[in-house]
Amino acid sequence: MVIGLGAAVAMFMMYCMFSTSAPAPAPVVYTSGNAIEGLGKLAQSNKMLSDKVSALERDLKNHRQAADKEVAALHRAVKKLEQAKPAPAIVQYKDPEPEVQSVMEETHVSQSQESELSDPLEEAEKDSASVVDQGRLLSGKQTTGHSWTNPETKDTYMKMYNEYHKLRSGNNSCHGCRYLSSLYKQYKFNSVFDAGCGTGVLVRELLKVGKEAYGVEAASLPLEKFAPDLLSNNTVFVRPLHDTPFKDEYFDFILSTEVFEHVPLADVDRSVQELSRVAKKNAKAFVTIGMGTSRFDREDSRKKSDIAGFAMDFKFHETVKSRRWWLDTFCAFGWYEDFTSYKKTVELMEKAGYHQNIPPRGWFNLVKGPVGSGSCKCTTFPGRKAEIWCGPQRKEKIITA
Ligand SMILES: *[C@@H]1O[C@H](CO)[C@@H](O)[C@H](O)[C@H]1NC(C)=O
Ligand SMILES: *[C@@H]1O[C@H](CO)[C@@H](O)[C@H](O)[C@H]1NC(C)=O
Repeated sequence: MVIGLGAAVAMFMMYCMFSTSAPAPAPVVYTSGNAIEGLGKLAQSNKMLSDKVSALERDLKNHRQAADKEVAALHRAVKKLEQAKPAPAIVQYKDPEPEVQSVMEETHVSQSQESELSDPLEEAEKDSASVVDQGRLLSGKQTTGHSWTNPETKDTYMKMYNEYHKLRSGNNSCHGCRYLSSLYKQYKFNSVFDAGCGTGVLVRELLKVGKEAYGVEAASLPLEKFAPDLLSNNTVFVRPLHDTPFKDEYFDFILSTEVFEHVPLADVDRSVQELSRVAKKNAKAFVTIGMGTSRFDREDSRKKSDIAGFAMDFKFHETVKSRRWWLDTFCAFGWYEDFTSYKKTVELMEKAGYHQNIPPRGWFNLVKGPVGSGSCKCTTFPGRKAEIWCGPQRKEKIITA
């Protein structure tokens, strides 16, 4: 204590001496007695300071994390709002004004041109080579001829298909259902659109496993009779394929089984275009299309049915085309063939015991990309300019036609 006090006095004097003669403070000189104590205190306060710094750093980190979480939660909430159930009631279906000429392009696919196609399914397709594309209506707003946009023919189609569904579907007929377990193994998706949903059975199956499923069907009876519940809660809609009530880029996945062969040729382009509109970027699609004549398009088989003698020039299978033709059509609107997935679907379906017509030329596994970006094989149809047939210009032409 005495030594300590003496030392402190001495230090103070030294400090005064040095501070008057030099600006730098004197180094603190400890005597052996207090040095250890001083160092101990120094270390202690150092530790307190670094503890405090660590605590502050922890606090800061926690605040940052909390803030990040809040921001992420906000982003999620905004996204949820944006992706909330499509607002079908907002968009009311209106037939476009009847006008505008159709654009017809002549096409003659020669034998040699046919054999140039290097599609792996060429063999399977050979028997459909006789289905030569006789020219095509670029459909735009075209409202003459057989079309769901032509008020006259629309009524005929409606009557036909209301009969057809009475005849064929009932409440437990579901063509698409056979593919589901294979597709679940292959594709990850949540929002899914059944394009041409008939009586809504497939939509119900999709809902059962928790998918966000919607459907449209052009004919009114199948849904009114077999799915009034789905109609009333805006899950399915009576709409033609080319005018669905859904938001742009909404769906992860599109299903359409045995529908497109029923779409009148004049409505095919705009229907495929509509699928593009409602599908997300890189969305996947599984589409099956009938490649032959419907038995109900033969007079003798209609005779036995409720649609006996009914408008024989209207076909149930209005658009019977080759695989190549359909691939080109999808391609024109940015749907590219995903052949790896096709093979996988075939394999899974075979495993599941489906052996009919394998490999089926009417199955299409597609992926959506920007128009003109994919490995689109549609290039040289004689008599057509490739860029009109395949590329964005064709799309423009259709839209403005
Ligand atoms: C609907 O399903 C029930 C039960 O399977 C069946 O009895 C009925 O005949 C079906 N109705 C129609 C119109 O198919
Ligand atoms: C609509 O009705 C179906 C059948 O009752 C049900 O499964 C589905 O969850 C309903 N959808 C909504 C959005 O309420």
